[in-house]
Amino acid sequence: MISAIRPAPAAVTVRVPAKVNLQLAVGPPRADGYHPLVTVFHAVSLFDEVTVRDADRTSLRVSGEDAAAVPADRTNLAWKAAAALAKAAGLRRSAVEIRIRKRIPVAAGLAGGSADAAAALLACNELWETGLSQDDLSEIGARLGSDVPFALLGGTAVGQGRGEHLTPALASGTYHWALAFGHNGLSTAEVYATCDRLRAARVSAGEAGAADPKLSHPLMTALRSGDPARVGPLLSNDLQPAALSLQPELRRALTAGRENGALGAIVSGSGPTCAFLASDAAQAREIAVALTGAGVCRAVARVHGPAPGAMPVREGQSE
Ligand code: C5P
Repeated sequence: MISAIRPAPAAVTVRVPAKVNLQLAVGPPRADGYHPLVTVFHAVSLFDEVTVRDADRTSLRVSGEDAAAVPADRTNLAWKAAAALAKAAGLRRSAVEIRIRKRIPVAAGLAGGSADAAAALLACNELWETGLSQDDLSEIGARLGSDVPFALLGGTAVGQGRGEHLTPALASGTYHWALAFGHNGLSTAEVYATCDRLRAARVSAGEAGAADPKLSHPLMTALRSGDPARVGPLLSNDLQPAALSLQPELRRALTAGRENGALGAIVSGSGPTCAFLASDAAQAREIAVALTGAGVCRAVARVHGPAPGAMPVREGQSE
């Protein structure tokens, strides 16, 4: 029998989604400085694309949204991801040309950097025909960033630990969102540190300290119902007070979204992106238009979730 030998691909492109957190419960810092989390990740239809191809030496190019703010050297998470995969697979030659087309804003609370790392892992795994499993890639990815495993998985999922231990969530329906992007980014580390400081001040004032994070069962029930009107009021983010204290102007965006009928209004992750849940696509458009008119953000996007995780794009499909 003659078996068809498939040639190794010359280049691989992977599309990878942004995320919002429907719940983000943050505990007191661990000994390693990270915070124990219980979070409900939700991938949304705002995608970066990462293309890798064989080269004599590794290089990286970034185009699109916020490209100038993204390092184009070995400090880039996508570059680190390619190097980590080559090492894990024991490859001797691993030079690769990496091209990132960004639509996910940088330092925005949407896990754009982790998304690019996830995409680079999957793309290089295909390019080099390394044959590592999704679990292997997830394990390598978790060492690069807490949100990398979720960018590989996508959908809606509960994250624990630093956010890297994932369980897919039973969620029905499609959720429509308006996203409001801030004028300036926020450093995730600074937002966590501010959260700790605000909590310490509350303890000094005689209030209770941070409790261990717990999953919101009412939110999980609402997600199973598929009804955004039930989900909206249950969105929660323990990092929101810290993000608002660092960028007080975000309050205006949240208020504008609520006043224009959003079912839920929340800072996404460590911010500063604000996410507004709508009843349907038409209402998401109305909210996006109202936010633009109110001048409370740099730009808006309409997205829906859950979106699939990192996925190879066939030739001709790329945007
Ligand atoms: O894991 P990642 O590199 O995305 O995290 C960026 C920063 O956010 C960490 O250096 C840490 O300061 C903070 N962080 C945290 N607890 C987590 C996740 C992130 O304190 N669970």
